[in-house]
Amino acid sequence: MRAMVYRGPYKIRVEEKKRPSLEHPNDAIVKVALAAICGSDLHLYHGMMPDTRVGSTFGHEFIGTVVEVGTSVQNLSVGDRVMVPFNVYCGSCYFCARGLFANCHNVNPNATAVGGIYGYSHTCGGYDGGQAEYVRVPFADVGPAVIPDWLDDEDALLLTDAMSTGYFGAQLADVSEGDAVVVFGAGPVGLAAAKSAWFMGAGRVLVVDHVDYRLEKARSFAHAETVNFTQVDDIVVHLKRATAGLGTDAAIDAVGAEADGSFLQHVTSAKLKLQGGSPVALNWAIDSVRKGGTVSVMGAYGPMFSAVKFGDAFNKGLTLRMNQCHVKRQWPRLFEHIRAGYLKPRELVTHRFPLEHIAEAYHVFSGKLDGCIKPLIVPGA
Ligand SMILES: NC(=O)c1ccc[n+]([C@@H]2O[C@H](COP(=O)([O-])OP(=O)(O)OC[C@H]3O[C@@H](n4cnc5c(N)ncnc54)[C@H](O)[C@@H]3O)[C@@H](O)[C@H]2O)c1
Ligand SMILES: [Zn+2]
Ligand SMILES: [Zn+2]
Repeated sequence: MRAMVYRGPYKIRVEEKKRPSLEHPNDAIVKVALAAICGSDLHLYHGMMPDTRVGSTFGHEFIGTVVEVGTSVQNLSVGDRVMVPFNVYCGSCYFCARGLFANCHNVNPNATAVGGIYGYSHTCGGYDGGQAEYVRVPFADVGPAVIPDWLDDEDALLLTDAMSTGYFGAQLADVSEGDAVVVFGAGPVGLAAAKSAWFMGAGRVLVVDHVDYRLEKARSFAHAETVNFTQVDDIVVHLKRATAGLGTDAAIDAVGAEADGSFLQHVTSAKLKLQGGSPVALNWAIDSVRKGGTVSVMGAYGPMFSAVKFGDAFNKGLTLRMNQCHVKRQWPRLFEHIRAGYLKPRELVTHRFPLEHIAEAYHVFSGKLDGCIKPLIVPGA
């Protein structure tokens, strides 16, 4: 089959690869109809994620058709059109039983923190992902769901990660009626979080980024107030002034470890490798919320960070909440919002590339070229 293959930082190829086969009675093989590139894939692409092995195939957002099922699979049949959450999880361990699908204890021999994620390095279980013609889906009775008739394919695809993660971010922000919520990052996750904050009852939603076309999308898609952090002297002071000097009730970090905005953080992370990334957005979130407020972290971070303002978070009495998203948990409510016409996740999609052109897709998305917000990969094109 044809598949995206990682050859080292910034080196993406499409190569011939052995088609995956059933390895366990509860596996399914899915023929990929649509995949996406996530901001998380950019951390892999930039060589930031430990144990990203040459030869691996990325892709944790995908939908497709079941072409083979193992002997114990009961919920899926050959021919079913399925949406597959990015988490690989068993559904029955201590953590899965508590809804912590992202922290499943049975799918990742390399870690006790994160569970399994398709196409996301051996740190996250070493599973090949969906930026390919076919993908092996373990625990096929647990994660995937048949795409409802009424749901558009691109909407379904966005629910396998970005839209669900943004919604989860807003959930963890503990929004109360009328709250002011600031979202750092106007990528797909931040835009989805900003939109979702209204569903939770926010009275005011602000989005911060430095890419103007993305801020424009924050206004049109999420009806947010926007701030370009390069156009104000100090983003924290700006946000305090905008909220009567107190700070926002909640902040959502939808940027993660590769944040721009601080030369010092850039040097200590990207250049000197003293920490696993640059926690600029996280520190801005900690500084911008009011005392007693909540910081919800959706942006991805590796294990080690040194220059995080933990003492300020402590002395302000903040609640810090975070995790990889437990994707499938979000679907019932998101289905309702889509059916009611409140939400069209596919409005985030700006580009569609054939699988053979995936290297260009990574380049365009990573470089924020050509107004790119969410690029899709179409294996059959
Ligand atoms: N927790 C989860 O389950 C989960 C799921 C999906 C993605 N993620 C993570 O969420 C983050 C965002 O994903 P995405 O797909 O939206 O990525 P993206 O790269 O498209 O978006 C990130 C945005 O942050 C902006 N940015 C950079 N520095 C900033 C700063 N200091 N302040 C404000 N904005 C800044 C960038 O310009 C960009 O628009 C990534 O770290 C990704 O790994 C986490
Ligand atoms: Zn992702
Ligand atoms: Zn489990």
